[in-house]
Amino acid sequence: MTDDNTDEMIHLLVTGGAGFIGTNFIRHALSLRPDWFITNLDALTYAGNSANFNDLPQALASRHKFIHGDIRDASLLDQLFSEHEISAVVHFAAESHVDRSILGPEAFVETNITGTFRLLEASLKAWRVRGKPEGFRFLHVSTDEVYGSLGPQGYFTEQTPYEPSSPYSASKAASDHFVKAYFRTYGLPGIVTNSSNNFGPYQFPEKLIPLMILNIVEQKPLPVYGDGKNVRDWLYVLDHCSALIKVLEEGRPGETYNIGGGAERQNIDIVHLLCDLLDSRLGRSGEQSSQRLVTFVPDRPGHDRRYAIDCTKIKRELGWEPEHRFDQALEATVEWYLDHMQWVESIRSGEYRKWIERQYGIKEEVGN
Ligand code: NAD
Ligand code: TYD
Repeated sequence: MTDDNTDEMIHLLVTGGAGFIGTNFIRHALSLRPDWFITNLDALTYAGNSANFNDLPQALASRHKFIHGDIRDASLLDQLFSEHEISAVVHFAAESHVDRSILGPEAFVETNITGTFRLLEASLKAWRVRGKPEGFRFLHVSTDEVYGSLGPQGYFTEQTPYEPSSPYSASKAASDHFVKAYFRTYGLPGIVTNSSNNFGPYQFPEKLIPLMILNIVEQKPLPVYGDGKNVRDWLYVLDHCSALIKVLEEGRPGETYNIGGGAERQNIDIVHLLCDLLDSRLGRSGEQSSQRLVTFVPDRPGHDRRYAIDCTKIKRELGWEPEHRFDQALEATVEWYLDHMQWVESIRSGEYRKWIERQYGIKEEVGN
């Protein structure tokens, strides 16, 4: 990624930057790249929180502009592209939770497919008006879930055929195909990254790790789907962010890069580990041990058994390596949630309580 005028700042349009990975990406990128200016376009669904940037130091905050808006809004997109000379789009905005996609798939079609299409259209228009600068990038942040489910052996490579299982992964698969099609048909310099499950600060507590951390703290049941032996390949969010910067700066247009943490774990092992980590911090043992809260619940329909990423390509071509060890990063994540209980309270809106009640049948007390 280059800018046409090297005297100027490099201007990124980040979508969904008030969500989990987007927040980490923006905070990380602003501190690593002093010549980047980031416009952050986010609709602030239940998963987005613009207050995630309230504590940014002035030197970083002055290079971040938040815009409350929807990626499906074509005229807003045109306005943003005409007001700023955007060098790259980093597209995180999505509906991202598999369980929600099972109960309400339409929002996933709307944002993940239609929204990506509108963003591609606006990007293509602006790229053409500016004379098709070679350095422009459309970085589409996607998931390994597009590849479907693995048995006990094998890994997803960039050549693995798409076989999505859930409405979420089907909608992400469709959006990946659109990005590839805009490259092949119109030459728009798009790149797709497919990463494994992320964890770390600012993750909304509907996903496995933060949900379990908070339920342990509050001594609520720990709902484990099925036999708990489904495997995910865990990636610390800051390692994902460093990979995305590498891909933006050195990745080849039209390509896919798989990003994985090389840390395969069964869900039940993660839950046991979190119980141990929190028990030692909260002084619980014996009969009070949080292991007693583990509750096996009916399996998720279409539940993918195992995800595992072969990320040889990004390592070999771009020299990226994950820097964080899983156990240490999980401990740091636990510490972050314990230190940010106010953040947790602020994002647990009435909508969150309704979700927990609908999905798990657990009534959340008001003011909890
Ligand atoms: P998230 O749900 O935490 O955040 C999504 C953000 O997008 C929120 O801030 C939300 O307000 C915003 N958004 C939703 N609809 C929008 C719309 N129509 N217009 C503008 N903004 C909108 O998601 P996340 O976990 O940070 O994931 C970010 C991206 O990374 C997603 O595209 C997801 O598919 C992908 N991904 C996530 C993981 C993971 O483990 N979390 C792994 C691989 C890929
Ligand atoms: P999740 O964090 O929803 O990510 P994904 O489905 O995108 O991989 O779930 C991770 C794993 O944890 C998945 O196998 C489903 C399982 N899981 C539970 O067992 N209980 C839960 O309450 C949740 C949210 C997930």
